[in-house]
Order: sequence, then structure tokens, then C-alpha cells
Amino acid sequence: MKISIIGAGNVGSLTAMRLAQSNIGNILLIDIAKGLALGKSLDLEDARPILKSHYNIDGSEDINKIKDSDIIVITAGLARRPGMTREELLSKNSQILKEISLNIKRLAPEAIVIVVTNPLDLMTYFVLKTTGFSKSKVFGVGISLDASRFANIIARELKVSVNDVEAMVIGAHGEAMLPLSRHTKVSGVSLDKTLSKEDVGLLINKTIGRGAEIVTALGTGSAFFAPSAAIAQIVNAIVQDEKKIIGVCAYLNGEYGLKDICIGVPCSLSKDGIKDIVELDLNKEEGDRFKDSANSISQLIKGLPLG
Ligand code: 2OP
Repeated sequence: MKISIIGAGNVGSLTAMRLAQSNIGNILLIDIAKGLALGKSLDLEDARPILKSHYNIDGSEDINKIKDSDIIVITAGLARRPGMTREELLSKNSQILKEISLNIKRLAPEAIVIVVTNPLDLMTYFVLKTTGFSKSKVFGVGISLDASRFANIIARELKVSVNDVEAMVIGAHGEAMLPLSRHTKVSGVSLDKTLSKEDVGLLINKTIGRGAEIVTALGTGSAFFAPSAAIAQIVNAIVQDEKKIIGVCAYLNGEYGLKDICIGVPCSLSKDGIKDIVELDLNKEEGDRFKDSANSISQLIKGLPLG
């Protein structure tokens, strides 16, 4: 199994480390910055004797090396700066991803492509359309990270183990995300039945603001520990053919009453990518908010440099 990671910044290199250490394939790290991916891969390789592990990691600035990859993770692009929304990144990152997508199409036409670059829902749509790959093979990582943040924030608030919390988030990976309290469970009981409406609202707002909270605290760059864990979970589900249900940014063609959009929904992931899209039973209020979340993406799709 050949897994290539394009972009050797914090998210890309931590993802490389997590995947290498789980020994699931040959890992290749690519970055256009001269020496960056090579330096990081040599550093990662030097840890093998200490870790008593035989993983294979390589690094290069030559995109041609992604040839015949089975899985490609795209983390390349600019990260958010304090005060910047994910959408403001749109124009710059679509230029970067256009070239990468065309290279993927040429060099690795059978690959499953996992998009991480922000604005996530738009970049996923852009890569899907630019590669022309099937919708089951191109998807984005965003809402499983948001669900992990929601679960963590709930566990802290209720002083319970994170293992007791199953959080559900759907929608855009951005301010319009939808943490679903009715579908979120603490020891099997809906969060709505565990906390007051006001308290649930506070936890939801904290979750929505978490990415920006981290960007502001760091001063430069954005989150990478939890994002890389979210990517590794998805790559593992594919490599192990787990058919596990994980929230990803998927192309909808009628599901949830939506068409021609990429947005976060729960999906079962197998060795072929997205096996099934799970349609949650949303009530009227949840359904309306999901449509609002989708509208926030659709409006910006028109601005993508496609065609
Ligand atoms: C985050 O939510 C940057 O989208 C990334 O932290």
C-alpha cells in the first residue's frame, strides 16, 4: 500500500508520523519547499531503531513520485491566520490544488484522494471536479475532527471519559457546522436529555469556535494534533477495509435532498473509499439548519475556478 501525503507542514508531517508508526504502508511525504519533505522523512526514519519499528518513509519535492499511489492525502495550501475565515483561503488554495489535482489525475488515476486543505468543503468539491474521479474516491476530512472536538468538550464539561461520549456533527467544516445534540450520546443517553438547552448551546458554540480559538492562541498556523489524528483514523478505515462509519465531506447526489455539493455527512468507509452515505433521521429544525449549512457552501461553489 502506497500512501502519499502532499504538504509537509504540521498537519502533513504529523500525519506521516502517525501513519508510519501504525505500519500500514509505505509513506511518501511531498512538499514543493526544497528539502522540507526529505528532511522530515529522514528525521522520522531515524526514530525507527528507538521505536523498534520497520516503517518505510520517504520524502521529496518531486510530485512525480506519487505515481501509482493507492491513497493520497492533500494537506498542501495556506493555513488560516488569526481573524481569517476558511473561506478567505479559497482563491489562493484553489490555485495550489488545481495543479496538484491534475498531477494526481495523470500519475495516480486509481488513487483514493483525501482532501484536508481549507476551505474544506469547497476544496473537496474542487478536487473531485478537477480530477474527474468517482465520488466514492474523493472526500474531505473535517467533521470527524469537529465531532472529536465536540466529544472532548462534552467529556471535560461532564467530567466523564471521552470513551463514554459519541458525538455527531454534520454540515460544513466551518462556522456553519452542525453539532447535533439530539444524535450525540453520553453513556447511551442523548445530550439533550443530559444537559439543559442553554448548557448544550454553550458546548455547541465552543465546538464551532474551537478551530479559531486554536488559531488565535497559536498566533501563527492552525491546529495539527487532532487534525492528523482524524486523517489517520480515516486512512486506517480504508486500509483495513473497516466499513466503519465516520463523518467525511462527501459529494451528495440526492441524499439529504441535496445535489452537486460536498458537505460533511456520516459515511461508511471501505477499501474502495465511501461505501455508503448514511442518511440521519433529521427533524424539521435540524433539516432546516443542515440546508442553511449547505447554502453557505453552494454560494461559494460558484466562485471556484472550474472549467
Ligand atoms: C481546524 O478546524 C484548520 O480547519 C482546521 O482546525
